[in-house]
Amino acid sequence: MERGGGAMATQAPTSARERAKQLRAEIERHNTAYYVLDAPLIPDAEFDRLFAQLQALEAQYPELATADSPTLRVGGAPRSDLPSVRHAVPMLSLNNGLSEADAVGFDARVRELLAKAGQPTPVVAYACELKFDGLAVNLRYLNGVLNLAATRGDGMVGEDVTPNVRTIHSIPLRLKDSRAAVIEVRGEVLMYKRDLERLNRAQRDSGEKEFANPRNAAAGGLRQLDARVTARRRLHFFAYGIGELVGAPEPESQSALLDWLQALGVPVSEERATVEGIDGLLAFYRRAGERRANLPYDIDGVVYKVDSIKAQRALGFVSRAPRFALAHKFPPQEALTQVLDIEVQVGRTGALTPVARLAPVTVGGVTVTNATLHNEQEVARRDVRVGDTVVVRRAGDVIPEVVSVILERRPPGTHPFRMPTRCPVCGSAVERLEQEAIARCTGGLVCAAQRKQALLHFASRRALDIEGLGERLVDQLVDSGRVRTPADLFHLDQAALMALDRMGEKSAANLLQAIEKSRNTSLDRFIYALGIRHVGESTAQALAAHFGSLDALLAADEARLLEVPDVGPVVAQSIRRFLDEPHNRQVIAALRQAGVHWLESAGSKAPGEAPLSGRTFVLTGTLPGLTRIEASEMIQAVGGHVSGSVSKKTDFVVAGEDAGSKLDRARELGVPIIDEAELRRLLRAASGPE
Ligand code: IVH
Repeated sequence: MERGGGAMATQAPTSARERAKQLRAEIERHNTAYYVLDAPLIPDAEFDRLFAQLQALEAQYPELATADSPTLRVGGAPRSDLPSVRHAVPMLSLNNGLSEADAVGFDARVRELLAKAGQPTPVVAYACELKFDGLAVNLRYLNGVLNLAATRGDGMVGEDVTPNVRTIHSIPLRLKDSRAAVIEVRGEVLMYKRDLERLNRAQRDSGEKEFANPRNAAAGGLRQLDARVTARRRLHFFAYGIGELVGAPEPESQSALLDWLQALGVPVSEERATVEGIDGLLAFYRRAGERRANLPYDIDGVVYKVDSIKAQRALGFVSRAPRFALAHKFPPQEALTQVLDIEVQVGRTGALTPVARLAPVTVGGVTVTNATLHNEQEVARRDVRVGDTVVVRRAGDVIPEVVSVILERRPPGTHPFRMPTRCPVCGSAVERLEQEAIARCTGGLVCAAQRKQALLHFASRRALDIEGLGERLVDQLVDSGRVRTPADLFHLDQAALMALDRMGEKSAANLLQAIEKSRNTSLDRFIYALGIRHVGESTAQALAAHFGSLDALLAADEARLLEVPDVGPVVAQSIRRFLDEPHNRQVIAALRQAGVHWLESAGSKAPGEAPLSGRTFVLTGTLPGLTRIEASEMIQAVGGHVSGSVSKKTDFVVAGEDAGSKLDRARELGVPIIDEAELRRLLRAASGPE
């Protein structure tokens, strides 16, 4: 499929055609030198000049803008959605091993099965690769030209991310050999750790949320409607396999396949090896573990693949994973460091969280300087003290935590940690309800820390979505007394904003515009934005759907609130308490007066309308093709609820990779456990025929 191209254009003269071809080749050569070999041949300005020449030629003669033109690498105009793509060959997943014993078992099984299949192999040759921690994509080349790029999705159907993938410079737009009529290159798109740091610095500066890890940033960067955003993320790619192949012979081994892909100009990691038997596997695993911190990107283990394709065929697949491969994952990452201090942070609802300030330590390539201690009981349970040497762990995208204290290294003169009895920010009393583990500041909105958190929550993307209102600004607005409640935001003017630190005319105007835009919202966002304890996004949606108008909600007593699916006594009481608080009523009135508005409806949808309405889902682990937010939105769209914890009331637990304790709990309670594919089937069935 050809993309772009103008309708009526002058035919390009041969000279222009030749020049465009020359420029394309030259630009691609410099792209490779710069992005793949890390060895630029010409200064950036010179490169830009060549690029501009090609752009000008293509603008004059649109027919010259071929599907492999490097000008596509900057990303075109945004699209309205990411179309679905059915994979010609399903994209499968890997079985996981977590210990050396699992690797031993894998090798033993492979030998046993090969013997049974009439291919006895006393010592098996394996291709060993890194397990890249990014997201899987399928790159479809037709006669050597990149034609379609898709995410893995549920393995059967993914999303078309072609324009986005074209902006990844190390991915060739044209292969060095076009013999294969069709070749699908499969591999992982990832972000380098240093690029994540750069991105997060920018996110911080603009008050946006930081990305927890390179995988999330890469996934977010790739699954963009606007490919120009992808281009700015500087993503990378490593191939590890193929999908459909037509018109070229299939190599005889996995290692030969990767050599071939490399020869075609596709990036393949140098960190691979063919080894023999279990000793070879374990040596590769250990070496990768040692190299891990020094790699520019994240890996979460290694992958072993039986090298011979013939043997792979004999071994085949069980359900959705090959018997011939194993992902041997690294254990969670831990390191030793010292507790310099224990500070207490105040959250939006006044919750006090003890946080350990740590002597900087690298855990899996990331510098960790603080770790959550969760709550007072947790600190007491582990008896973490200032001066202690502790084990910190960083696992995936969660906040680093203190795992244990090395008591033998405790210096003399330490004291057990005590939660302060007064809020460290506003000095109000701290209370701890009996049934709760958490201590809270009773200062409410008197407490600047809570006010700030409340404002940040109010402005957050899933609430009123005020772009640009980040931590730094909120700090200043609250500290200067200009803003006390969310309603005050709507009375800010250019002069007030420009009086703030580092606030230029343009940023002030942008912020005012963002505030203006946020006035037009929806009832569920508004309810969520209020920051009522226990009212997350899905409860806010349930409340909006049930009551239809804010006044109906304001008038509802606890009994009425309990009629709302997903609302139990604790939530109902919390909502009532919030709404009965005169101060909160005033803020709500002031917000309405300031022009914050939404469409109201009759509300009270009869439960049971859609087959999934009222059903409760719990998400756990990483789903292959959906972020949590997307999965939640899809469930809510058919009337389901998403809850954070598994109970007897849970109807389904949707489990992805690395699912944790929620999965165990679901098994304990006998709650049905489904995967992403099953979820999609349920949702399709619930939303009825298209
Ligand atoms: S092979 C049929 N090789 O891991 C097996 N996968 O759990 C196809 N991954 O979705 C996968 N590095 O995104 C393979 N060297 C590697 C890999 C790798 C990372 C990812 C891939 C896949 C997931 C499987």
